[in-house]
Amino acid sequence: MAFSRAFLDELEARNPIEDVVGHYVSLKPRGSNLFGLCPFHGEKTASFSVAPDKGIYYCFGCHKGGNVFNFMMEIEGLTYPDAVRALAKRVGMEVPEDEQYQSRYRHQERLWALSKEAARFFRAQLFSPAGAQGLAYAQQRGMPKATLTTFGVGFAPNAWSALTDAMRKKGYTDQELIDSGLVSEKGGRIFDRFRNRLMFPIIDVRGNVIGFGGRVMDDSTPKYLNSPETEIFNKRKNLFGLNLAKKSKLGYLILVEGYMDAVSLHQYGFDCAVASLGTSLTEEHAALLSRYTEQVILIYDGDTAGQRATKRAIPMLEKVGLQVKVLQMKGAKDPDEFLKKFGADRFKLLLEGASNRVEYQLNAIARKYDIREDDQRVKFIQECALLISALPSSVQQEVYGNRVAEVGGISFEAMKMEIAKANKNRIRREKKLQEKKDLAPVQAVQPKSRTIRYDDVKSAMAEEGVIGQGLREPALFDLCGDLRASDFSSSLLGRVYEQLRACQSRGLRVELSSLEGFELDEMSHIAGILQRQSGPVNEQAMKDYIATIRAEAQKRGVHTEDDLLALRNKLKESKGYKV
Ligand code: UTP
Ligand code: MN
Repeated sequence: MAFSRAFLDELEARNPIEDVVGHYVSLKPRGSNLFGLCPFHGEKTASFSVAPDKGIYYCFGCHKGGNVFNFMMEIEGLTYPDAVRALAKRVGMEVPEDEQYQSRYRHQERLWALSKEAARFFRAQLFSPAGAQGLAYAQQRGMPKATLTTFGVGFAPNAWSALTDAMRKKGYTDQELIDSGLVSEKGGRIFDRFRNRLMFPIIDVRGNVIGFGGRVMDDSTPKYLNSPETEIFNKRKNLFGLNLAKKSKLGYLILVEGYMDAVSLHQYGFDCAVASLGTSLTEEHAALLSRYTEQVILIYDGDTAGQRATKRAIPMLEKVGLQVKVLQMKGAKDPDEFLKKFGADRFKLLLEGASNRVEYQLNAIARKYDIREDDQRVKFIQECALLISALPSSVQQEVYGNRVAEVGGISFEAMKMEIAKANKNRIRREKKLQEKKDLAPVQAVQPKSRTIRYDDVKSAMAEEGVIGQGLREPALFDLCGDLRASDFSSSLLGRVYEQLRACQSRGLRVELSSLEGFELDEMSHIAGILQRQSGPVNEQAMKDYIATIRAEAQKRGVHTEDDLLALRNKLKESKGYKV
Protein backbone atom coordinates (compact mmCIF):
# COMPACT_ATOMS: atom_id res chain seq x y z
CA MET A 1 0.00 0.00 0.00
CA ALA A 2 1.30 3.38 -0.96
CA PHE A 3 -0.06 5.48 1.88
CA SER A 4 -1.49 4.25 5.13
CA ARG A 5 -5.23 3.80 5.29
CA ALA A 6 -5.42 6.00 8.38
CA PHE A 7 -3.65 8.82 6.61
CA LEU A 8 -5.88 8.57 3.55
CA ASP A 9 -9.01 8.47 5.70
CA GLU A 10 -8.04 11.62 7.50
CA LEU A 11 -6.99 13.29 4.30
CA GLU A 12 -10.34 12.53 2.73
CA ALA A 13 -12.23 13.67 5.78
CA ARG A 14 -10.41 16.97 5.71
CA ASN A 15 -11.07 17.38 2.00
CA PRO A 16 -14.83 17.09 1.58
CA ILE A 17 -15.50 16.37 -2.07
CA GLU A 18 -17.95 19.24 -2.40
CA ASP A 19 -15.24 21.69 -1.23
CA VAL A 20 -12.59 20.35 -3.54
CA VAL A 21 -14.86 20.17 -6.56
CA GLY A 22 -16.47 23.46 -5.61
CA HIS A 23 -13.12 25.09 -6.20
CA TYR A 24 -13.42 24.23 -9.91
CA VAL A 25 -17.16 23.97 -10.50
CA SER A 26 -20.01 26.09 -9.28
CA LEU A 27 -22.39 23.64 -7.60
CA LYS A 28 -26.07 23.97 -6.75
CA PRO A 29 -28.04 21.56 -4.58
CA ARG A 30 -30.62 19.32 -6.23
CA GLY A 31 -32.08 16.55 -4.11
CA SER A 32 -29.39 14.93 -2.01
CA ASN A 33 -26.78 15.79 -4.66
CA LEU A 34 -25.07 18.90 -5.89
CA PHE A 35 -25.04 19.66 -9.59
CA GLY A 36 -22.92 21.80 -11.86
CA LEU A 37 -21.54 22.08 -15.36
CA CYS A 38 -19.16 19.23 -16.04
CA PRO A 39 -15.54 20.39 -16.15
CA PHE A 40 -14.58 17.39 -18.29
CA HIS A 41 -16.81 17.94 -21.29
CA GLY A 42 -18.51 20.99 -22.73
CA GLU A 43 -22.17 21.23 -21.78
CA LYS A 44 -24.94 23.76 -21.30
CA THR A 45 -27.09 21.91 -18.80
CA ALA A 46 -25.66 20.62 -15.56
CA SER A 47 -25.25 16.87 -15.58
CA PHE A 48 -22.24 16.75 -13.31
CA SER A 49 -23.18 15.53 -9.85
CA VAL A 50 -21.46 15.46 -6.50
CA ALA A 51 -22.79 13.25 -3.74
CA PRO A 52 -21.31 14.50 -0.44
CA ASP A 53 -22.70 11.57 1.52
CA LYS A 54 -21.10 9.04 -0.82
CA GLY A 55 -17.96 11.07 -1.29
CA ILE A 56 -18.14 10.82 -5.05
CA TYR A 57 -18.65 12.82 -8.21
CA TYR A 58 -20.22 11.49 -11.37
CA CYS A 59 -21.15 13.05 -14.69
CA PHE A 60 -24.28 11.63 -16.28
CA GLY A 61 -23.15 13.11 -19.59
CA CYS A 62 -19.58 11.94 -20.04
CA HIS A 63 -19.63 9.27 -17.34
CA LYS A 64 -16.53 10.42 -15.59
CA GLY A 65 -16.58 9.90 -11.88
CA GLY A 66 -14.80 8.75 -8.78
CA ASN A 67 -13.69 9.96 -5.40
CA VAL A 68 -11.89 13.12 -4.40
CA PHE A 69 -8.50 11.67 -5.38
CA ASN A 70 -9.76 10.71 -8.83
CA PHE A 71 -11.15 14.20 -9.27
CA MET A 72 -7.77 15.77 -8.57
CA MET A 73 -6.06 13.29 -10.90
CA GLU A 74 -8.51 13.99 -13.67
CA ILE A 75 -8.75 17.75 -13.40
CA GLU A 76 -5.09 18.49 -12.73
CA GLY A 77 -3.68 15.62 -14.77
CA LEU A 78 -1.90 14.18 -11.75
CA THR A 79 -0.82 10.68 -10.85
CA TYR A 80 -2.46 9.16 -7.81
CA PRO A 81 0.39 9.89 -5.40
CA ASP A 82 0.64 13.43 -6.66
CA ALA A 83 -3.10 13.91 -6.20
CA VAL A 84 -2.67 12.74 -2.62
CA ARG A 85 0.17 15.18 -2.14
CA ALA A 86 -1.85 18.04 -3.64
CA LEU A 87 -4.78 17.39 -1.31
CA ALA A 88 -2.46 17.13 1.67
CA LYS A 89 -0.92 20.44 0.77
CA ARG A 90 -4.37 21.96 0.43
CA VAL A 91 -5.16 21.26 4.07
CA GLY A 92 -1.60 21.54 5.40
CA MET A 93 -1.12 17.87 6.22
CA GLU A 94 2.26 16.21 6.08
CA VAL A 95 2.57 13.25 3.72
CA PRO A 96 4.11 10.17 5.33
CA GLU A 97 5.95 8.77 2.35
CA ASP A 98 5.54 5.05 2.67
CA GLU A 99 8.70 2.95 2.56
CA GLN A 100 7.39 0.32 0.18
CA TYR A 101 5.89 2.90 -2.10
CA GLN A 102 9.09 4.85 -2.02
CA SER A 103 11.12 1.81 -2.93
CA ARG A 104 8.81 0.79 -5.75
CA TYR A 105 8.90 4.28 -7.14
CA ARG A 106 12.65 4.37 -6.72
CA HIS A 107 12.90 1.03 -8.51
CA GLN A 108 11.02 2.44 -11.49
CA GLU A 109 13.17 5.54 -11.46
CA ARG A 110 16.24 3.30 -11.42
CA LEU A 111 14.99 1.38 -14.44
CA TRP A 112 14.36 4.61 -16.32
CA ALA A 113 17.79 5.88 -15.42
CA LEU A 114 19.38 2.57 -16.38
CA SER A 115 17.60 2.54 -19.75
CA LYS A 116 18.77 6.07 -20.43
CA GLU A 117 22.32 5.12 -19.51
CA ALA A 118 22.07 2.12 -21.80
CA ALA A 119 20.88 4.32 -24.66
CA ARG A 120 23.87 6.59 -24.06
CA PHE A 121 26.18 3.59 -24.02
CA PHE A 122 24.79 2.21 -27.30
CA ARG A 123 25.04 5.63 -28.87
CA ALA A 124 28.69 6.02 -27.86
CA GLN A 125 29.38 2.56 -29.30
CA LEU A 126 27.91 3.54 -32.66
CA PHE A 127 30.53 6.21 -33.08
CA SER A 128 33.40 4.14 -31.68
CA PRO A 129 35.55 1.58 -33.52
CA ALA A 130 33.39 -1.22 -32.08
CA GLY A 131 30.43 0.29 -33.90
CA ALA A 132 31.96 0.76 -37.32
CA GLN A 133 29.78 -1.91 -38.85
CA GLY A 134 26.69 -0.43 -37.27
CA LEU A 135 27.46 3.04 -38.56
CA ALA A 136 28.12 1.66 -42.02
CA TYR A 137 24.78 -0.13 -41.92
CA ALA A 138 22.97 3.02 -40.78
CA GLN A 139 24.54 4.90 -43.67
CA GLN A 140 23.63 2.17 -46.09
CA ARG A 141 20.03 2.54 -44.87
CA GLY A 142 20.26 6.23 -45.69
CA MET A 143 20.26 7.66 -42.19
CA PRO A 144 22.38 10.80 -41.83
CA LYS A 145 23.87 11.79 -38.51
CA ALA A 146 21.01 14.19 -37.79
CA THR A 147 18.49 11.36 -37.97
CA LEU A 148 20.63 9.13 -35.78
CA THR A 149 20.74 11.95 -33.24
CA THR A 150 17.03 12.74 -33.37
CA PHE A 151 16.15 9.14 -32.64
CA GLY A 152 19.10 8.43 -30.38
CA VAL A 153 20.05 5.45 -32.52
CA GLY A 154 22.93 3.38 -31.16
CA PHE A 155 24.77 0.12 -31.58
CA ALA A 156 25.00 -2.95 -29.36
CA PRO A 157 28.48 -4.38 -29.88
CA ASN A 158 29.08 -7.97 -30.79
CA ALA A 159 29.97 -9.11 -27.27
CA TRP A 160 28.31 -10.95 -24.41
CA SER A 161 28.82 -8.46 -21.62
CA ALA A 162 29.75 -5.07 -23.05
CA LEU A 163 26.61 -3.39 -21.76
CA THR A 164 26.47 -5.45 -18.57
CA ASP A 165 30.03 -4.46 -17.64
CA ALA A 166 29.45 -0.80 -18.41
CA MET A 167 26.24 -0.67 -16.38
CA ARG A 168 27.74 -2.56 -13.43
CA LYS A 169 30.48 0.04 -13.40
CA LYS A 170 27.80 2.71 -13.16
CA GLY A 171 26.48 1.02 -10.05
CA TYR A 172 23.49 -0.88 -11.41
CA THR A 173 22.85 -4.26 -9.87
CA ASP A 174 22.36 -7.49 -11.79
CA GLN A 175 18.78 -7.59 -10.56
CA GLU A 176 18.17 -4.13 -11.99
CA LEU A 177 19.71 -5.22 -15.27
CA ILE A 178 17.42 -8.25 -15.37
CA ASP A 179 14.36 -6.16 -14.47
CA SER A 180 15.15 -3.72 -17.26
CA GLY A 181 15.06 -6.46 -19.90
CA LEU A 182 18.48 -5.43 -21.16
CA VAL A 183 20.11 -8.70 -20.21
CA SER A 184 19.10 -12.34 -20.43
CA GLU A 185 19.72 -14.93 -17.78
CA LYS A 186 20.87 -18.49 -18.18
CA GLY A 187 22.20 -20.88 -15.56
CA GLY A 188 22.48 -18.13 -13.01
CA ARG A 189 24.60 -15.96 -15.29
CA ILE A 190 23.51 -12.89 -17.15
CA PHE A 191 24.54 -11.71 -20.59
CA ASP A 192 23.68 -8.85 -22.92
CA ARG A 193 20.36 -9.42 -24.58
CA PHE A 194 21.19 -7.19 -27.54
CA ARG A 195 24.34 -8.05 -29.49
CA ASN A 196 25.55 -6.85 -32.84
CA ARG A 197 22.38 -4.88 -33.55
CA LEU A 198 21.50 -1.33 -34.53
CA MET A 199 19.57 -0.04 -31.54
CA PHE A 200 16.44 2.10 -31.60
CA PRO A 201 15.47 3.39 -28.17
CA ILE A 202 11.76 3.45 -27.48
CA ILE A 203 10.82 6.61 -25.63
CA ASP A 204 7.49 7.34 -24.00
CA VAL A 205 5.59 10.62 -24.27
CA ARG A 206 7.18 11.90 -21.10
CA GLY A 207 10.65 11.37 -22.54
CA ASN A 208 11.67 8.26 -20.60
CA VAL A 209 13.62 5.56 -22.41
CA ILE A 210 11.47 2.49 -21.72
CA GLY A 211 12.80 -0.15 -24.10
CA PHE A 212 14.69 -0.90 -27.29
CA GLY A 213 14.25 -2.41 -30.69
CA GLY A 214 17.46 -3.80 -32.16
CA ARG A 215 17.87 -4.61 -35.84
CA VAL A 216 20.24 -7.18 -37.27
CA MET A 217 22.45 -6.00 -40.10
CA ASP A 218 21.98 -9.02 -42.32
CA ASP A 219 19.18 -11.44 -43.11
CA SER A 220 19.30 -13.39 -39.88
CA THR A 221 16.32 -13.61 -37.58
CA PRO A 222 14.68 -12.19 -35.70
CA LYS A 223 15.07 -9.09 -37.80
CA TYR A 224 14.13 -6.96 -34.83
CA LEU A 225 14.68 -7.99 -31.27
CA ASN A 226 12.58 -5.98 -28.85
CA SER A 227 12.78 -5.44 -25.11
CA PRO A 228 10.50 -7.80 -23.25
CA GLU A 229 7.59 -6.41 -21.26
CA THR A 230 8.95 -4.89 -18.06
CA GLU A 231 7.76 -2.74 -15.21
CA ILE A 232 8.37 0.28 -17.42
CA PHE A 233 7.77 -1.13 -20.92
CA ASN A 234 4.33 -2.06 -22.21
CA LYS A 235 4.01 -2.56 -25.97
CA ARG A 236 0.26 -2.25 -25.88
CA LYS A 237 0.40 1.22 -24.40
CA ASN A 238 3.27 2.87 -26.23
CA LEU A 239 4.05 3.91 -29.77
CA PHE A 240 7.47 4.39 -31.29
CA GLY A 241 8.14 8.03 -32.19
CA LEU A 242 5.20 9.56 -30.36
CA ASN A 243 7.59 11.50 -28.12
CA LEU A 244 8.62 13.41 -31.26
CA ALA A 245 5.40 13.27 -33.27
CA LYS A 246 3.36 14.82 -30.47
CA LYS A 247 5.24 18.06 -31.12
CA SER A 248 4.51 18.06 -34.85
CA LYS A 249 2.75 21.05 -36.34
CA LEU A 250 1.28 19.06 -39.21
CA GLY A 251 -2.03 18.54 -37.44
CA TYR A 252 -2.37 14.80 -38.00
CA LEU A 253 -0.48 11.68 -37.08
CA ILE A 254 0.75 9.01 -39.48
CA LEU A 255 0.59 5.47 -38.19
CA VAL A 256 2.95 2.96 -39.80
CA GLU A 257 4.09 -0.57 -39.11
CA GLY A 258 7.85 -0.33 -39.00
CA TYR A 259 10.46 1.47 -36.95
CA MET A 260 12.32 2.32 -40.14
CA ASP A 261 9.17 3.71 -41.74
CA ALA A 262 8.66 6.10 -38.86
CA VAL A 263 12.32 7.10 -38.87
CA SER A 264 12.36 7.79 -42.62
CA LEU A 265 9.14 9.76 -42.50
CA HIS A 266 10.60 12.05 -39.86
CA GLN A 267 13.80 12.34 -41.86
CA TYR A 268 11.87 13.41 -44.94
CA GLY A 269 9.91 16.04 -43.05
CA PHE A 270 6.84 14.11 -41.98
CA ASP A 271 7.59 14.54 -38.32
CA CYS A 272 4.19 13.24 -37.27
CA ALA A 273 4.88 9.55 -37.87
CA VAL A 274 4.58 6.87 -35.20
CA ALA A 275 4.89 3.09 -35.37
CA SER A 276 3.34 0.36 -33.30
CA LEU A 277 5.86 -1.81 -31.56
CA GLY A 278 5.62 -5.02 -33.53
CA THR A 279 2.11 -5.66 -32.26
CA SER A 280 -1.22 -5.00 -33.84
CA LEU A 281 -2.99 -1.82 -32.85
CA THR A 282 -4.61 -1.95 -29.41
CA GLU A 283 -7.42 0.06 -27.90
CA GLU A 284 -4.83 1.66 -25.64
CA HIS A 285 -2.91 2.80 -28.71
CA ALA A 286 -6.06 4.30 -30.21
CA ALA A 287 -6.84 6.14 -26.99
CA LEU A 288 -3.26 7.37 -26.78
CA LEU A 289 -3.36 8.69 -30.35
CA SER A 290 -6.62 10.48 -29.66
CA ARG A 291 -4.91 12.49 -26.95
CA TYR A 292 -2.64 14.12 -29.50
CA THR A 293 -4.62 14.46 -32.70
CA GLU A 294 -8.00 14.31 -34.36
CA GLN A 295 -6.84 12.72 -37.58
CA VAL A 296 -4.79 9.62 -38.24
CA ILE A 297 -3.44 8.51 -41.59
CA LEU A 298 -2.95 4.77 -41.66
CA ILE A 299 -0.19 3.39 -43.82
CA TYR A 300 0.09 -0.33 -43.53
CA ASP A 301 1.86 -2.63 -45.94
CA GLY A 302 -0.04 -3.51 -49.08
CA ASP A 303 0.05 -7.27 -48.45
CA THR A 304 -2.97 -9.17 -47.17
CA ALA A 305 -1.75 -8.98 -43.57
CA GLY A 306 -1.50 -5.22 -43.88
CA GLN A 307 -4.95 -4.99 -45.43
CA ARG A 308 -6.39 -7.06 -42.64
CA ALA A 309 -4.64 -4.87 -40.06
CA THR A 310 -6.08 -1.77 -41.75
CA LYS A 311 -9.58 -3.18 -41.72
CA ARG A 312 -9.22 -3.93 -38.03
CA ALA A 313 -7.67 -0.59 -37.13
CA ILE A 314 -10.28 1.66 -38.80
CA PRO A 315 -13.17 0.98 -36.41
CA MET A 316 -10.85 1.05 -33.41
CA LEU A 317 -9.62 4.50 -34.31
CA GLU A 318 -13.08 5.76 -35.22
CA LYS A 319 -14.40 4.51 -31.92
CA VAL A 320 -12.23 6.98 -30.03
CA GLY A 321 -13.43 9.79 -32.26
CA LEU A 322 -10.51 9.92 -34.68
CA GLN A 323 -10.95 10.79 -38.28
CA VAL A 324 -9.23 8.10 -40.31
CA LYS A 325 -7.60 8.18 -43.71
CA VAL A 326 -5.93 5.29 -45.41
CA LEU A 327 -2.97 5.50 -47.70
CA GLN A 328 -2.23 2.68 -50.11
CA MET A 329 1.43 2.23 -50.85
CA LYS A 330 2.10 2.13 -54.56
CA GLY A 331 5.41 1.18 -56.17
CA ALA A 332 7.08 0.34 -52.88
CA LYS A 333 6.41 -2.05 -50.07
CA ASP A 334 6.57 0.49 -47.27
CA PRO A 335 6.97 4.25 -46.70
CA ASP A 336 10.71 3.90 -46.04
CA GLU A 337 11.28 2.29 -49.41
CA PHE A 338 8.94 4.74 -51.11
CA LEU A 339 10.66 7.82 -49.74
CA LYS A 340 14.07 6.54 -50.73
CA LYS A 341 12.90 5.62 -54.22
CA PHE A 342 10.69 8.59 -55.04
CA GLY A 343 11.39 11.33 -52.48
CA ALA A 344 9.29 13.54 -50.23
CA ASP A 345 7.37 15.41 -52.93
CA ARG A 346 5.96 12.28 -54.47
CA PHE A 347 5.06 11.09 -50.98
CA LYS A 348 3.23 14.33 -50.34
CA LEU A 349 1.14 13.74 -53.43
CA LEU A 350 0.36 10.29 -52.14
CA LEU A 351 -0.67 11.78 -48.81
CA GLU A 352 -2.92 14.33 -50.45
CA GLY A 353 -4.55 11.51 -52.34
CA ALA A 354 -4.94 9.44 -49.18
CA SER A 355 -8.42 8.17 -49.34
CA ASN A 356 -10.86 8.70 -46.61
CA ARG A 357 -12.56 5.72 -45.11
CA VAL A 358 -15.36 5.69 -47.71
CA GLU A 359 -13.00 5.61 -50.64
CA TYR A 360 -10.95 2.97 -48.99
CA GLN A 361 -13.99 0.81 -48.37
CA LEU A 362 -15.31 1.33 -51.90
CA ASN A 363 -11.96 0.21 -53.22
CA ALA A 364 -12.05 -2.80 -50.98
CA ILE A 365 -15.47 -3.75 -52.40
CA ALA A 366 -14.20 -3.24 -55.95
CA ARG A 367 -11.38 -5.66 -55.32
CA LYS A 368 -13.83 -8.37 -54.37
CA TYR A 369 -15.62 -8.46 -57.71
CA ASP A 370 -14.72 -8.85 -61.35
CA ILE A 371 -16.92 -6.15 -62.82
CA ARG A 372 -16.49 -7.38 -66.35
CA GLU A 373 -18.95 -10.12 -65.41
CA ASP A 374 -22.52 -8.81 -65.36
CA ASP A 375 -23.68 -10.69 -62.29
CA GLN A 376 -20.64 -9.63 -60.30
CA ARG A 377 -21.05 -6.06 -61.48
CA VAL A 378 -24.59 -6.05 -60.11
CA LYS A 379 -23.34 -7.31 -56.74
CA PHE A 380 -20.59 -4.70 -56.75
CA ILE A 381 -23.09 -1.90 -57.37
CA GLN A 382 -25.48 -3.18 -54.73
CA GLU A 383 -22.81 -3.46 -52.07
CA CYS A 384 -21.50 0.02 -52.84
CA ALA A 385 -25.05 1.39 -52.76
CA LEU A 386 -25.48 -0.03 -49.28
CA LEU A 387 -22.31 1.65 -48.07
CA ILE A 388 -23.22 4.95 -49.72
CA SER A 389 -26.77 4.92 -48.41
CA ALA A 390 -25.40 5.08 -44.88
CA LEU A 391 -23.42 8.26 -45.51
CA PRO A 392 -24.75 11.22 -43.57
CA SER A 393 -24.67 13.91 -46.25
CA SER A 394 -26.50 13.97 -49.57
CA VAL A 395 -23.49 15.65 -51.19
CA GLN A 396 -21.34 12.71 -50.18
CA GLN A 397 -23.97 10.34 -51.49
CA GLU A 398 -24.03 12.10 -54.82
CA VAL A 399 -20.24 12.29 -55.18
CA TYR A 400 -19.60 8.66 -54.38
CA GLY A 401 -22.76 7.51 -56.13
CA ASN A 402 -21.54 9.16 -59.29
CA ARG A 403 -18.20 7.50 -58.99
CA VAL A 404 -19.64 4.05 -58.57
CA ALA A 405 -22.12 4.60 -61.39
CA GLU A 406 -19.26 5.48 -63.66
CA VAL A 407 -17.16 2.49 -62.73
CA GLY A 408 -20.17 0.20 -62.89
CA GLY A 409 -21.21 1.62 -66.24
CA ILE A 410 -24.75 2.59 -65.28
CA SER A 411 -26.57 5.93 -65.29
CA PHE A 412 -26.58 8.05 -62.18
CA GLU A 413 -30.38 7.82 -62.17
CA ALA A 414 -30.18 4.06 -61.86
CA MET A 415 -27.55 4.39 -59.18
CA LYS A 416 -29.73 6.81 -57.25
CA MET A 417 -32.58 4.32 -57.29
CA GLU A 418 -30.25 1.61 -56.10
CA ILE A 419 -29.08 3.80 -53.22
CA ALA A 420 -32.66 4.63 -52.25
CA LYS A 421 -33.53 0.95 -52.26
CA ALA A 422 -30.49 0.10 -50.16
CA ASN A 423 -31.45 2.87 -47.79
CA LYS A 424 -34.95 1.47 -47.30
CA ASN A 425 -33.57 -1.97 -46.63
CA ARG A 426 -31.01 -0.65 -44.26
CA ILE A 427 -33.52 1.39 -42.29
CA ARG A 428 -35.82 -1.60 -42.06
CA ARG A 429 -32.97 -3.73 -40.81
CA GLU A 430 -31.81 -1.12 -38.34
CA LYS A 431 -35.33 -0.73 -37.01
CA LYS A 432 -35.58 -4.45 -36.44
CA LEU A 433 -32.25 -4.37 -34.70
CA GLN A 434 -33.36 -1.47 -32.56
CA GLU A 435 -36.51 -3.30 -31.57
CA LYS A 436 -34.43 -6.25 -30.54
CA LYS A 437 -32.18 -3.94 -28.58
CA ASP A 438 -35.12 -2.30 -26.86
CA LEU A 439 -36.33 -5.68 -25.73
CA ALA A 440 -32.89 -6.64 -24.45
CA PRO A 441 -31.15 -3.39 -23.62
CA VAL A 442 -27.72 -4.92 -23.65
CA GLN A 443 -26.04 -1.89 -25.12
CA ALA A 444 -27.67 0.45 -22.65
CA VAL A 445 -25.93 -1.24 -19.77
CA GLN A 446 -22.58 -1.67 -21.41
CA PRO A 447 -19.97 0.45 -19.65
CA LYS A 448 -19.44 3.78 -21.34
CA SER A 449 -15.69 3.51 -21.06
CA ARG A 450 -14.09 2.28 -24.22
CA THR A 451 -11.83 -0.15 -22.48
CA ILE A 452 -14.39 -1.91 -20.30
CA ARG A 453 -16.88 -4.38 -21.72
CA TYR A 454 -19.32 -6.81 -20.22
CA ASP A 455 -19.29 -10.19 -21.87
CA ASP A 456 -22.07 -11.65 -19.76
CA VAL A 457 -24.46 -8.77 -19.29
CA LYS A 458 -26.92 -10.68 -17.14
CA SER A 459 -24.24 -11.63 -14.66
CA ALA A 460 -22.58 -8.22 -14.85
CA MET A 461 -25.81 -6.50 -13.86
CA ALA A 462 -26.05 -8.73 -10.82
CA GLU A 463 -22.37 -8.09 -10.08
CA GLU A 464 -23.00 -4.34 -10.22
CA GLY A 465 -25.90 -4.94 -7.86
CA VAL A 466 -23.79 -6.79 -5.32
CA ILE A 467 -21.15 -4.08 -5.39
CA GLY A 468 -23.67 -1.26 -5.28
CA GLN A 469 -25.57 -2.76 -2.36
CA GLY A 470 -22.38 -3.69 -0.53
CA LEU A 471 -20.98 -0.21 -0.89
CA ARG A 472 -24.10 1.23 0.64
CA GLU A 473 -24.48 -1.40 3.35
CA PRO A 474 -21.29 -3.39 3.91
CA ALA A 475 -23.04 -5.83 6.25
CA LEU A 476 -24.86 -7.20 3.21
CA PHE A 477 -21.58 -8.69 2.05
CA ASP A 478 -22.09 -11.31 4.77
CA LEU A 479 -24.78 -12.80 2.55
CA CYS A 480 -22.18 -13.55 -0.10
CA GLY A 481 -20.75 -16.54 1.75
CA ASP A 482 -18.20 -18.25 -0.43
CA LEU A 483 -18.96 -16.21 -3.55
CA ARG A 484 -15.57 -15.62 -5.12
CA ALA A 485 -14.20 -12.96 -7.41
CA SER A 486 -13.63 -15.70 -9.97
CA ASP A 487 -17.38 -16.27 -10.10
CA PHE A 488 -17.73 -12.78 -11.51
CA SER A 489 -17.98 -12.53 -15.29
CA SER A 490 -16.35 -9.09 -15.32
CA SER A 491 -12.82 -9.21 -14.04
CA LEU A 492 -13.03 -5.52 -13.16
CA LEU A 493 -16.09 -6.04 -10.98
CA GLY A 494 -14.48 -9.16 -9.53
CA ARG A 495 -11.48 -7.11 -8.46
CA VAL A 496 -13.73 -4.47 -6.90
CA TYR A 497 -15.67 -7.14 -5.06
CA GLU A 498 -12.54 -8.82 -3.77
CA GLN A 499 -11.09 -5.62 -2.36
CA LEU A 500 -14.32 -4.42 -0.81
CA ARG A 501 -14.91 -7.76 0.88
CA ALA A 502 -11.36 -7.81 2.18
CA CYS A 503 -11.94 -4.38 3.73
CA GLN A 504 -15.18 -5.49 5.24
CA SER A 505 -13.76 -8.66 6.74
CA ARG A 506 -10.87 -6.71 8.21
CA GLY A 507 -13.24 -4.19 9.69
CA LEU A 508 -12.01 -1.37 7.46
CA ARG A 509 -14.17 1.21 5.76
CA VAL A 510 -15.95 -0.14 2.71
CA GLU A 511 -15.92 2.78 0.33
CA LEU A 512 -14.89 3.81 -3.09
CA SER A 513 -11.73 5.27 -1.63
CA SER A 514 -10.83 1.90 -0.17
CA LEU A 515 -10.13 0.67 -3.69
CA GLU A 516 -6.59 0.53 -4.92
CA GLY A 517 -4.90 0.03 -8.24
CA PHE A 518 -7.75 1.03 -10.53
CA GLU A 519 -7.37 3.20 -13.62
CA LEU A 520 -9.32 6.44 -13.84
CA ASP A 521 -11.80 5.12 -16.36
CA GLU A 522 -12.36 2.10 -14.15
CA MET A 523 -13.03 4.34 -11.15
CA SER A 524 -15.44 6.40 -13.25
CA HIS A 525 -17.31 3.27 -14.08
CA ILE A 526 -17.46 2.16 -10.45
CA ALA A 527 -18.64 5.59 -9.32
CA GLY A 528 -21.36 5.34 -11.96
CA ILE A 529 -22.55 2.06 -10.48
CA LEU A 530 -22.76 3.63 -7.03
CA GLN A 531 -24.45 6.78 -8.26
CA ARG A 532 -27.12 4.80 -10.12
CA GLN A 533 -28.11 2.93 -6.96
CA SER A 534 -31.00 4.53 -5.15
CA GLY A 535 -33.76 3.59 -2.75
CA PRO A 536 -33.30 1.56 0.40
CA VAL A 537 -30.79 -1.26 0.55
CA ASN A 538 -32.46 -4.54 0.13
CA GLU A 539 -31.50 -7.92 1.49
CA GLN A 540 -33.68 -9.84 -0.94
CA ALA A 541 -32.19 -7.99 -3.90
CA MET A 542 -28.71 -8.86 -2.68
CA LYS A 543 -29.67 -12.53 -2.42
CA ASP A 544 -31.09 -12.50 -5.93
CA TYR A 545 -27.96 -10.90 -7.32
CA ILE A 546 -25.78 -13.51 -5.66
CA ALA A 547 -27.93 -16.33 -7.00
CA THR A 548 -27.74 -14.91 -10.52
CA ILE A 549 -23.96 -14.61 -10.38
CA ARG A 550 -23.66 -18.19 -9.19
CA ALA A 551 -26.00 -19.52 -11.86
CA GLU A 552 -24.27 -17.62 -14.65
CA ALA A 553 -20.85 -18.70 -13.41
CA GLN A 554 -21.98 -22.28 -13.52
CA LYS A 555 -23.25 -21.84 -17.06
CA ARG A 556 -19.94 -20.39 -18.15
CA GLY A 557 -17.88 -22.71 -16.01
CA VAL A 558 -15.57 -25.28 -17.52
CA HIS A 559 -16.88 -28.58 -16.30
CA THR A 560 -14.44 -31.20 -15.18
CA GLU A 561 -14.85 -34.65 -16.72
CA ASP A 562 -16.54 -35.86 -13.57
CA ASP A 563 -19.02 -33.03 -13.78
CA LEU A 564 -19.74 -33.86 -17.38
CA LEU A 565 -20.26 -37.49 -16.62
CA ALA A 566 -22.60 -36.66 -13.78
CA LEU A 567 -24.44 -34.24 -16.01
CA ARG A 568 -24.83 -36.79 -18.75
CA ASN A 569 -26.14 -39.39 -16.33
CA LYS A 570 -28.57 -36.92 -14.89
CA LEU A 571 -29.84 -36.04 -18.35
CA LYS A 572 -30.29 -39.64 -19.29
CA GLU A 573 -32.11 -40.37 -16.07
CA SER A 574 -34.41 -37.48 -16.55
CA LYS A 575 -35.28 -38.79 -20.00
CA GLY A 576 -36.18 -42.07 -18.41
CA TYR A 577 -33.51 -44.39 -19.62
CA LYS A 578 -30.71 -46.09 -17.78
CA VAL A 579 -27.05 -45.59 -18.50
P1 UTP B 1 9.01 -4.74 -41.03
O1 UTP B 1 9.81 -5.92 -41.38
O2 UTP B 1 8.01 -4.25 -42.03
O3 UTP B 1 9.91 -3.53 -40.50
O4 UTP B 1 8.29 -5.03 -39.67
P2 UTP B 1 10.68 -2.38 -41.21
O5 UTP B 1 10.72 -1.26 -40.23
O6 UTP B 1 10.16 -2.09 -42.56
O7 UTP B 1 12.12 -3.04 -41.27
P3 UTP B 1 13.30 -2.76 -42.26
O8 UTP B 1 12.92 -1.67 -43.19
O9 UTP B 1 13.56 -4.06 -42.95
O10 UTP B 1 14.43 -2.40 -41.34
C1 UTP B 1 7.45 -4.07 -39.10
C2 UTP B 1 7.70 -3.93 -37.65
O11 UTP B 1 7.40 -5.16 -37.00
C3 UTP B 1 8.25 -5.33 -35.89
C4 UTP B 1 9.12 -4.10 -35.81
O12 UTP B 1 8.49 -3.15 -34.97
C5 UTP B 1 9.14 -3.65 -37.23
O13 UTP B 1 9.49 -2.30 -37.36
N1 UTP B 1 9.09 -6.52 -36.04
C6 UTP B 1 9.40 -7.03 -37.27
C7 UTP B 1 9.61 -7.12 -34.92
O14 UTP B 1 9.34 -6.67 -33.80
N2 UTP B 1 10.41 -8.22 -35.03
C8 UTP B 1 10.75 -8.73 -36.25
O15 UTP B 1 11.50 -9.72 -36.30
C9 UTP B 1 10.21 -8.13 -37.39
MN1 MN C 1 11.11 -1.53 -44.30
